[in-house]
Amino acid sequence: MRDRLVCGLDIGTTKTCAVIAEISGDLPRAPEARILGVGRARTSGMRRGVVRDIDEATRSVTEAVAAAERMAGFKVDGMYVGIAGEHVRAITSPGVVNVTSPEIRESDVQRVIEVARAVVLPPDSEILHTLPQEYLVDRQRGISDPVGMTGTRLEVDVFIVTMSSSVAQNLRKSVERAGYHVTGFVLEPLAASYATLTEDEKELGVALVELGGGSTDLAIFHDGKFRHVGTFGFAGAHVTSDIAQGVSVTQSDAEKLKERYGLAYEPLVDPAEMIELPGTAGQGPRQVQRELLAHIIHMRLEEILSMVSREIEREGYVGKLAAGIVLTGGTAQLAGVVELAREVFVMPVRLGMPGQALAGSLTDAVEQPRFSTATGLALYGMLEQARGVAQAGARAVTVDRVLGSVKRWLNDFF
Ligand SMILES: Nc1ncnc2c1ncn2[C@@H]1O[C@H](COP(=O)(O)OP(=O)(O)OP(=O)(O)O)[C@@H](O)[C@H]1O
Ligand SMILES: [Mg+2]
Repeated sequence: MRDRLVCGLDIGTTKTCAVIAEISGDLPRAPEARILGVGRARTSGMRRGVVRDIDEATRSVTEAVAAAERMAGFKVDGMYVGIAGEHVRAITSPGVVNVTSPEIRESDVQRVIEVARAVVLPPDSEILHTLPQEYLVDRQRGISDPVGMTGTRLEVDVFIVTMSSSVAQNLRKSVERAGYHVTGFVLEPLAASYATLTEDEKELGVALVELGGGSTDLAIFHDGKFRHVGTFGFAGAHVTSDIAQGVSVTQSDAEKLKERYGLAYEPLVDPAEMIELPGTAGQGPRQVQRELLAHIIHMRLEEILSMVSREIEREGYVGKLAAGIVLTGGTAQLAGVVELAREVFVMPVRLGMPGQALAGSLTDAVEQPRFSTATGLALYGMLEQARGVAQAGARAVTVDRVLGSVKRWLNDFF
């Protein structure tokens, strides 16, 4: 059973979340994830993807994974851990090799990717993902799988995502101190895409916008490939602070007001509706228009979404995202956020939550936008393990040598 379990661990700014799933379905071609357990713990050990208090991060990992294990009735040891933050960078790197055999083999593809990966990285950084975008055979573009084709010159464009080694090291320590180990690190918006986006959307062009607690992440997909990643240091926690200031309540009361009465789109509120505010003895009983609360949230989220929209423009994707915007993350749970986003982006907008590719009776435990990353991490793990099975099968019949060191990044192929 143990080797059929996968665990996704999302250590966020406001919460740590673990999802345990069982790999089922038809392996390796059509794997399915059966959700077995979900666990959550509040945390203040992280700030925008970076560990700032290792003991606190460790405590939240212990608590979240133990809760997921209790629900699942199984223990886990390895986990796929999310990586995000401003230390993440992406570059596109080309590679070219000469092909000597009559047709292009798997080993030629590995060789050209290795050439493309040989970039000089800044100090303290390492490669997180290697994602081939397209191949060229004898200068002919747009080839997605060149194996078996005839040609003498093989080129590739590879999308390389890097992360800070020390950030990864501190995350690893938090997980190991809790008694588990990191099977792999995965870029959070990429993980969330596995839980929320369809293949058709990625083909048509789509932007996944994850509205979290400490940061908002953007991932753009086009022609079926991951094309751009961006991050902005504003999200739900800033909305909460604005509310705390705007109506003079504590941060924790502002959080409760936001979740109970919050609306992200002002036109949806009845101006006559009043809400009761918590107050100190000195403040006495207080009431405000719900419209004021909605106004505060609307203004901040409009600003955040506009930053995202400008980045989509800067990257040249205006008019290229036929499937529009998919919103996910905890802050996407605010009522009215889809309406607001439609106004800002002038594109189709939907809410993204885990659901597709999940099986079993506990799926509803993760069907909320805030569980997209943790669920996506488990799905990524499932696909990586299914590919492992497929590669093991392929190795048995192929004469191509599979290099040990190459295996880890080959797993990023999709
Ligand atoms: N039902 C809800 N209504 C409004 N806001 C909500 C709701 N549930 C969660 N949030 C907000 O979502 C935010 C947390 O989102 P999420 O769990 O995606 O972030 P995180 O992973 O902890 O942080 P980050 O990804 O930024 O590091 C908090 O600001 C919280 O107030
Ligand atoms: Mg998050």
